[in-house]
Amino acid sequence: MTNMPSPATRSATSAAGRNDVVIDARDLVVGYRKLREKIELTALRDVNLQIRRGEFICIVGPSGCGKTTFINVVAGLVKPWQGTMHVNGTPVKGPGPDRAMVFQDYALMPWRTVQENVEFGLEFVKHDLSKQQLADRVAHYLDLVGLKGFEKSFPYELSGGMKQRVGIARALVCEPEILLADEPFGAVDAMTREGMQAELERIIAETGQTVVLITHSIDEAITLADRVVVVSHRPGRIREVVEVDLPRPRFEYDIKANERYHELREHVWDLLKGEAFGAATEGEA
Ligand SMILES: Nc1ncnc2c1ncn2[C@@H]1O[C@H](COP(=O)(O)OP(=O)(O)OP(=O)(O)O)[C@@H](O)[C@H]1O
Ligand SMILES: [Mg+2]
Repeated sequence: MTNMPSPATRSATSAAGRNDVVIDARDLVVGYRKLREKIELTALRDVNLQIRRGEFICIVGPSGCGKTTFINVVAGLVKPWQGTMHVNGTPVKGPGPDRAMVFQDYALMPWRTVQENVEFGLEFVKHDLSKQQLADRVAHYLDLVGLKGFEKSFPYELSGGMKQRVGIARALVCEPEILLADEPFGAVDAMTREGMQAELERIIAETGQTVVLITHSIDEAITLADRVVVVSHRPGRIREVVEVDLPRPRFEYDIKANERYHELREHVWDLLKGEAFGAATEGEA
């Protein structure tokens, strides 16, 4: 490959002060009480992870290993049983405007139009935007996710991929310091997915936002992430954190033609292979 910038290029442009830790998980144990069956289920165990400002982290792991649980703890929606979660040095006590979430199941409000669903993202965020500026910002992000022309549609009139894109626009419109995304492209078609991944890489390079993105796609993880966190089957533990030492912007080059890309892919795949069916055989923890 020729004309590829060094991996340092992005860090220099997008993430000043990159070494300071924004998300700090220490000795996390997280679980749920299942009231009907009167049992406790441990979803995550012994999780230690420090995420630096401006980093793009992807989390991969088998279904049910606790990925959503982890970002819910960062978002302040789930409280850990043990251990601590700090964001910007402060213990997480609940949701805040510094963190926006793209939910796995879209979580749209069916009685609101596409535009109103995206506006909702800003309803709990302090801002001094005029009505017009707010409308322009919403229009900008709807355009970005390819939903121009659907502003007045209701969620029931959209496909799964379109609903997911509304969820992405609703998170991006807040321009949060930390973007938490739970399989944000799971329901979109392959072409749109690639376009949106490229767009996300571009936005993040521009804004320097910190991103934690869950995916089931190893390719997506390696093309997007600075580090890929591989989680074992439930109760999820961090199996390995894989540094993705590939240059950026990855979508402007044929990154898949890079030999290193394939080495990393194989490595993550090897780590996951041993985990895939573990959860199905394990009892309650
Ligand atoms: N609210 C809840 N109450 C009880 N158990 C829960 C709850 N949420 C999650 N769990 C359990 O915690 C474990 C981890 O769930 P989680 O949703 O974090 O997994 P995941 O890695 O995101 O899976 P997937 O890839 O399928 O989305 C699962 O065994 C799940 O059944
Ligand atoms: Mg999940």
